[in-house]
Amino acid sequence: MTTEQPQTLSQNPLNSSLFLPSMGCGTWAWGNRFLWGYDESMDLELQKVFNLAVSQGVTLFDTGDSYGTGKLNGRSELLLGRFSREYQGIGQEKICLGTKLAAYPWRWTRHSMIAAGKASAERLGRPIDLVQMHWSTANYAPWQEGGLLDGLGDLYEQGLVKGIGLSNYGPKRLKQVYQRFSSRGIPLVSLQVQYSLLSTYAVTELGLKDVCDELGIKLIAYSPLALGLLTGKYSENGLLPKGFRGLLFRQLLPKIRPLLDCLQEIANHHSKTQSQVALNWCICKGTIPIPGAKSVKQMEDNLGAMGWKLNDGEVTELDKVANHLEKKMVQNIFQTN
Ligand SMILES: NC(=O)c1ccc[n+]([C@@H]2O[C@H](COP(=O)([O-])OP(=O)(O)OC[C@H]3O[C@@H](n4cnc5c(N)ncnc54)[C@H](OP(=O)(O)O)[C@@H]3O)[C@@H](O)[C@H]2O)c1
Repeated sequence: MTTEQPQTLSQNPLNSSLFLPSMGCGTWAWGNRFLWGYDESMDLELQKVFNLAVSQGVTLFDTGDSYGTGKLNGRSELLLGRFSREYQGIGQEKICLGTKLAAYPWRWTRHSMIAAGKASAERLGRPIDLVQMHWSTANYAPWQEGGLLDGLGDLYEQGLVKGIGLSNYGPKRLKQVYQRFSSRGIPLVSLQVQYSLLSTYAVTELGLKDVCDELGIKLIAYSPLALGLLTGKYSENGLLPKGFRGLLFRQLLPKIRPLLDCLQEIANHHSKTQSQVALNWCICKGTIPIPGAKSVKQMEDNLGAMGWKLNDGEVTELDKVANHLEKKMVQNIFQTN
């Protein structure tokens, strides 16, 4: 299966196809006040982001039932549902809303997972296209996971979702879960992991890309701009985001300067931006990046990552510089082996 090809999931009662484009859009920020500074006045702009993305072929949107802070929990799904219903332009039929169901400690039966899927579909106002297990409980409560996975399988068999994916799984655990679904005749569509020039662990050390290729699973790269660090707009002596990101970036920026310089040099050569080069690197590695975007300007910029390719020498150069950095991005604690 190539990225642009539809994946036909014949055993699903919905009997429909999922389209995974070469790039998607992340929506963690849409409803998150604390980390991302969201407020409701941004909604009109976010709808424009959605419309522009779909019209330009970015038809995959990533959300989660845990997205949205405090009273805004579920906001990202609600917005995506509304935007997709109101969208009337080109590419409408290819829209793929992928949500992630959290492995909350109080969610441990297959029925609770079915209920969670139904609740997400209600917020979306349409069936979920791609339902993903947000993280594995293998590292801290292995007994919890079986029921949750079985519930995901039930959602698929009951025709309530078009496809199933995972998130934050390593190769060992992925193979086990793949077997579990295979025994029910259920295909696994995708796996999403933290992956960027500042976070290569999942592919370089865990070898996940090879395993995904072997199993016919698409690898989705989340936080492909390292939470905004790789855009080049932040600097230790200048602009820094508020809150946790500001603290983290202040520490990391002096250590990642060689990478930012290298990105800028390559960007100049192609008349591109640093973000476009960083996202194109993910595409060159055979992954589907899902950068978050909070404005039309950012989405326009990110769209410029598609339709061209870095050459092999540039990819190698970026790899080399990234490998020699003193510090990298912190790894998601839920990532398994
Ligand atoms: N499965 C998981 O456990 C998991 C974990 C994390 C994320 N995700 C998914 O992956 C998506 C993407 O990751 P992310 O949002 O963490 O980080 P990211 O994509 O690396 O960075 C996104 C942030 O960078 C800034 N930005 C984006 N495009 C830009 C541009 N062209 N120019 C300048 N600034 C730009 C924006 O923030 P500012 O403007 O505020 O800088 C934006 O919110 C999430 O939205 C979520 O859907 C999944």
